Amino acid sequence: MSWSPRLAARLLGCTSGQEIGVARGKPAHNGRHAPHPCPPLPALMSSDSGRLVVRPSEGLHGEVPIAGAKNSVLKLMAATVLAEGTHVLHNVPDLTDVTDMAELLSAMGLVVTRDGATLTIERPAEIVPEAPYELVERMRASIVVLGPLLAKVGEARVAVPGGDDFGHRPIDMHLASLESLGARFTSSHGFIQGRADQLHGTSVVLDFPSVGATENLLMAAVLAKGTTTIDNAAREPEIADLASMLNRMGAQVVGAGSSTIEIEGVAELTPVEHTVIPDRIEAATFLAVVGVAGGEVTLLGARADHMDMLIQKLGTMGMRISPTPEGIWAMSKGELRSTDISTLPYPGVATDYKPLLVAMLTVAEGIGIVTENIFGGRFRYISELVRMGADIRTEGHHAVVRGIPALSGAPVRASDIRAGAALVIAGIRAEGETLISGAGHLDRGYERFDEKLRDIGVDVTRLP
Ligand code: UD1
Repeated sequence: MSWSPRLAARLLGCTSGQEIGVARGKPAHNGRHAPHPCPPLPALMSSDSGRLVVRPSEGLHGEVPIAGAKNSVLKLMAATVLAEGTHVLHNVPDLTDVTDMAELLSAMGLVVTRDGATLTIERPAEIVPEAPYELVERMRASIVVLGPLLAKVGEARVAVPGGDDFGHRPIDMHLASLESLGARFTSSHGFIQGRADQLHGTSVVLDFPSVGATENLLMAAVLAKGTTTIDNAAREPEIADLASMLNRMGAQVVGAGSSTIEIEGVAELTPVEHTVIPDRIEAATFLAVVGVAGGEVTLLGARADHMDMLIQKLGTMGMRISPTPEGIWAMSKGELRSTDISTLPYPGVATDYKPLLVAMLTVAEGIGIVTENIFGGRFRYISELVRMGADIRTEGHHAVVRGIPALSGAPVRASDIRAGAALVIAGIRAEGETLISGAGHLDRGYERFDEKLRDIGVDVTRLP
């Protein structure tokens, strides 16, 4: 993974000689910190760098504030392409994925500024409808600019995202559903070029309730002429959050959060202020942490109604979890029972929870069979858990996890965000030290992760 000089400058508060797209609160040269030149690029952090040392921890207690949802805010940021003017997003997590999306918007000509958890996005009249390879490669979710660009600008040039540890990740449903609204695509040199003079509403039945395809289609259909119906739509809470922002911008979307979404196209949208929903995957991660360590913790701001199936599963495994006015209360004795897990589209158990649950099962009593139904791959972290002594066998998209009383700390590598989280969870129940490299991946999806963990009693240290 490579960092651009501009992003690097922004993260380090140094002067790269280029305009900086996102200001974090006041500029770095506000008098308190004088500008300093950037170090040479090879010295900079990437997701593959950064290390965490985790030691056995138990009896956790306290409160963890849950940040805004990464998988929601990235799409809400893309939605700002749909209306000229000043958009304001609140409860925005401080993540490298958000910085990357801000950089993509900046590359298109929008101006993104951050002040604490608030992002202000100025969308000028003219923008450059292009998502360069460098940014799409860094963050696949960049593909969601396709729908809004076609709907608002009438053209888009977006790099084709590659595969990752999740396996081959096609975008055929995104393209087919946008084509049915009237867009036309050609592809060459690794880019998809799309055109649409005027999109027209139609009925679309998705082959699979894809989150990204539903979002792209939704953001295109809001400005199409006539009515669009999406059947077999994804039902994730992040889709409902996107529709709620679009409706407040003037769109007419009914049924988001269910399998059938109906969109009556409008001629124009206007900017709004919107507050991002809490991150259910961050909340799930802290539930898993409490589950293996034992203790009593409140997840401030978390929404139990977005995590029903997971909460039921964790109950079966021996945890006690209830919604409270502040968020979610969780208690565990650190003694877990195994259960079988099958990932499914929402409201099923999310595929993003799976690495967390596998890490829990490695130290639970009994045998758990885990079945992945969403992505082909996503097992690389399992060989790392095995290096820590876990008893896991994989066969196709199944994993059989036989629980043992304790793992054994070892040097391991995080291959993606949730894989990194799984290794932290494992490290909490491993004898000795677990040294996790590639910890930069965690910063893509977790805000102040090690700090929040320390606040509730986890023994974790960050190394450069
Ligand atoms: C989003 C989430 C990701 C989560 C996933 C499933 C973001 C940024 N990411 O990813 O964290 O794990 O939902 O809940 O929100 N597919 C196709 N063709 C397509 C599109 C998808 O075959 O055109 C397949 C995928 O390969 C996969 C399945 O559909 O097997 C689901 O993918 P999808 O729901 O689209 O996931 P993302 O939106 O990429």
